[in-house]
Amino acid sequence: MPLALAIAAGIGVPVLGYFLGIFTGAPYLPTGADRVERMLELAEVGPGTKLVDLGSGDGRIVRAAAKRGAEAVGYEINPILVLLSWQRARNEGVGARARFVRGDFRKADLSHFDVVAIYGVSSLMRSLEPRLEQELKPGARVVSNVFAFPHWQGRAEGGIHLYIKRQSATGVTRTRSSPTALYGQLGENSVGKRK
Ligand SMILES: C[S@@+](CC[C@H](N)C(=O)[O-])C[C@H]1O[C@@H](n2cnc3c(N)ncnc32)[C@H](O)[C@@H]1O
Repeated sequence: MPLALAIAAGIGVPVLGYFLGIFTGAPYLPTGADRVERMLELAEVGPGTKLVDLGSGDGRIVRAAAKRGAEAVGYEINPILVLLSWQRARNEGVGARARFVRGDFRKADLSHFDVVAIYGVSSLMRSLEPRLEQELKPGARVVSNVFAFPHWQGRAEGGIHLYIKRQSATGVTRTRSSPTALYGQLGENSVGKRK
């Protein structure tokens, strides 16, 4: 592909994706590369982790998770961004572990994922909170870029919010130990524990 065409495609597709987002009422704002890595580090994404990104944009979180050996899925409503994600995952050699679903993440079954990534607006966080609280398995981590969930207690670091689900108060007691010594207090900051 001639250089000018490659540059035009590289810039044009995300820009087109952004404008299509405006028309579908779903804004596209990509997370910066450093931030993506920090989100994955905080959520301890590694080989075998099952991760889902709710609104995966150009697939950067899913692709970065797949590069760490995770089985990653992105739900994305914007078809142009899904195409772009597929293409980039294939070019980067992670197509086998990075899957993209063109559709509404509100219809996805989230019960088997270890990590849920999200970069959503406040109103979305409000509506997602009770659903995740109910659907996620104990030990699941939720990592959110910029926006906090309204009622959960979590850990915030540089605008990244991390939550972990532990057994409900009525469940058989199992206090999950923290994923790392560094975030030892995570056992106390859980999805399902209301402020
Ligand atoms: C702020 S962008 C984040 C993109 C990516 N996760 C990242 O961090 O770079 C939010 C994305 O969610 C998508 N989106 C919004 N509502 C959605 C829905 N109900 N189902 C699937 N995707 C949705 C938008 O099209 C957009 O690409």
